Amino acid sequence: MNLLILHGPNLNLLGTREPGIYGSDTLEDINSSLHELAEELGCTLTIIQSNHEGVLVDAIQASVGMSVGILINPAAYTHTSVAIRDALAAVGLPTVEIHLSNIHRREEFRQHSYIAPVAVGQISGFGPAGYLLGLRALFTIAIKRLSGESGCGT
Ligand code: DQA
Repeated sequence: MNLLILHGPNLNLLGTREPGIYGSDTLEDINSSLHELAEELGCTLTIIQSNHEGVLVDAIQASVGMSVGILINPAAYTHTSVAIRDALAAVGLPTVEIHLSNIHRREEFRQHSYIAPVAVGQISGFGPAGYLLGLRALFTIAIKRLSGESGCGT
């Protein structure tokens, strides 16, 4: 069972990028803790970071038949990208939206997400721990979907 992890623009700079907001963990740190948790849960991860909207759209489209769920921090594209939202809606895989910072207590332009309406849920403001919470949530939802159950969080 494979889950797709997508990191949007500028997240490759984590560690040095505005550490007061995003913390000091690097993307590599976050990815290795995700891999550790995936091993514990018994799933595999495909992890992609891109600064380009089209690359993220291509990765979402290519996930069909490869992955059973998507964990995405769309970064700045959260607030601008109809294309990423449409791609997620088109593939229909359960999606969890992650933000390191709490976007709802930041600038007004960050408080709207184009992705939230097509996601199962959003985790925002818990730093790198949010990715691990999101992976656990996505794993549970994906298992439920695979076994044909439905209900809250599906
Ligand atoms: C972010 C929040 C976005 O507003 C911002 O553009 C990012 C990171 C976060 O993880 O807190 O690049 O998605």
